[in-house]
Amino acid sequence: MLDDALKTKLRDPAYLDWHLAAVRSTHVIGRADWYDSVFLRRFEVARHFLGAVNPDALGAFVAAFDQLKPPPGFKVAVLDNLFDDAVRARIVEIAREIRADNLKAGPKGEWEAKAFGRRVIWDHPFFLELQQGLVPQASELAGCELRTGYNFLSLYSGDGRCAPHMDQPYSMYTLDYCIEQSDEWPIHFSRTVEWPTVDTFRRFDADTIKQDADLAFEPYVLHPNQALFFNGSSQWHYRDSITPGGFCDLLFFHYSPAGCEKLVEPVLWRDHFDIPELGALCDLFAQEDARERALEAEAN
Ligand SMILES: [Fe+2]
Repeated sequence: MLDDALKTKLRDPAYLDWHLAAVRSTHVIGRADWYDSVFLRRFEVARHFLGAVNPDALGAFVAAFDQLKPPPGFKVAVLDNLFDDAVRARIVEIAREIRADNLKAGPKGEWEAKAFGRRVIWDHPFFLELQQGLVPQASELAGCELRTGYNFLSLYSGDGRCAPHMDQPYSMYTLDYCIEQSDEWPIHFSRTVEWPTVDTFRRFDADTIKQDADLAFEPYVLHPNQALFFNGSSQWHYRDSITPGGFCDLLFFHYSPAGCEKLVEPVLWRDHFDIPELGALCDLFAQEDARERALEAEAN
């Protein structure tokens, strides 16, 4: 369903042409079937779209996203004893309290339970404070000034798992902190790679990704009060199934480079770039988001 503002814009023949090209590009690129793939799919849609409607702008558009690529030689960092005893005890207490209560999960929470075997709490006030306090350390590891994204507490249960995926650049860097766990539970990271293109979307298969020798996956094991710092939007990552009946409580703090606020939000690309055609594409992305929100509201 088109909203009234979009119907008005469509009366402009130039906008209508861009809109039709944008619709075509979304269909040509199709889907990317992994968790958190929305941004990377939209980047591919935008590349296809600009190639069709304004090829002269394509090079500068693509180059602008270099800021969201890892520095050469970036390696996963292991951080020992991240928090002092008092902070660590408070984190454990909060996680245990949340695990113990049986609040209704809601549709988003139910999806997390089904897809990952985990219960998730987003942006708890205490964890937001901790995340902010870690900005200098995270920035040093990234080699550039970072700003905070969202964070979430992730309480994995006995059927916990995390299929191979690559994150959106809004979560370009992740600090993955281990609170408590029943057993060691490795997370596997690929080397840093170029963003997947439509060719990867079309042949995507989780097992093939895991077995791809060229990706050079390496396992990392976390222990309580240790953390990993990785570049999830340029490194494939996954966890195999947790020890049956086990548990693992993790905290994920997301960061992205300061000054890239509009780059990491595809609906804001028209505001960021001096490319009028992108307006039609951004409107289409906004429509997709509105549909998604409506479906979530319906499920509530
Ligand atoms: Fe991830």
